[in-house]
Amino acid sequence: MSTSFQNKVAFVTGAAGGIGFATAQAFAEAGAAVAIAGDNENNAKAAADALIKAGHRALGLRCDVADEASVAAAIDATVAAFGRLDFAYNNAGIHAPSVETADAMAEDFDRVIAVNLRGVWACMKYELRQMRKQGSGVIVNCSSQSGLAGIAGLAAYTASKHGVIGLTKAAALEYARRGIRINVICPGTVHTPMVDKAMADHPARMQAVIDDIPLGRMGTPEEIASAVLWLCSPGAGFMIGQIVAPDGGYTAR
Ligand SMILES: NC(=O)c1ccc[n+]([C@@H]2O[C@H](COP(=O)([O-])OP(=O)(O)OC[C@H]3O[C@@H](n4cnc5c(N)ncnc54)[C@H](O)[C@@H]3O)[C@@H](O)[C@H]2O)c1
Repeated sequence: MSTSFQNKVAFVTGAAGGIGFATAQAFAEAGAAVAIAGDNENNAKAAADALIKAGHRALGLRCDVADEASVAAAIDATVAAFGRLDFAYNNAGIHAPSVETADAMAEDFDRVIAVNLRGVWACMKYELRQMRKQGSGVIVNCSSQSGLAGIAGLAAYTASKHGVIGLTKAAALEYARRGIRINVICPGTVHTPMVDKAMADHPARMQAVIDDIPLGRMGTPEEIASAVLWLCSPGAGFMIGQIVAPDGGYTAR
């Protein structure tokens, strides 16, 4: 990624590890100051410290995306520390237990929607308040290949990720003429702690998922980060409300 993000400010949720941290690191290496927002404050601060030790500008913040007040406070703190907000990657997400729909629990459904769908909505709401004032900004939301295709056993997760695509398209149209671009990425299976946990819980099923990737391997967090940074770059200036799917060919069939 040769684009420079010098003097720019990025906000990334769920950024203490996995795809979120790889993206925060990529923003920092491209020159941006980065707010690392996570549900666990110590982990977010430790991730920010790692970037600061490497010579970057970073801030670790507690931000539970399921709690609107927590989101508002984290974005306020980002703007207070760095002066503005140029990019946001709304990455935080959770899996519900894999279960057939007839046996699913309402609490699990509500929690997945609260984090994966309402969390993206809450983040956009407060990011857009700042970007609207500036008249500029780029938001990338995180959906999944499950936003484009049904995954048996993961109905709530699949619904939440389909919903993120709808949120993205509607909001993108609202701000298209106000200097703000909003797009969504739909990663395929990427090797992160979320996948390690699924592998530990359901090894045979996860191996079948990996064998089914047309490319023949999982993606890396860095491959998702580079798609996010491209969407934030001037080179993606004509991309509004679009889906980018770095998925090893999963949804090409
Ligand atoms: N890994 C994959 O194969 C894959 C595929 C498609 C989409 N995704 C999506 O990518 C995103 C990142 O996934 P990952 O694989 O890096 O997972 P991960 O579990 O490694 O990271 C998710 C992060 O979100 C944080 N988080 C959880 N609940 C939160 C909350 N309420 N508020 C703030 N942060 C919270 C976690 O602490 C964690 O740091 C998720 O939205 C996930 O659904 C992942």
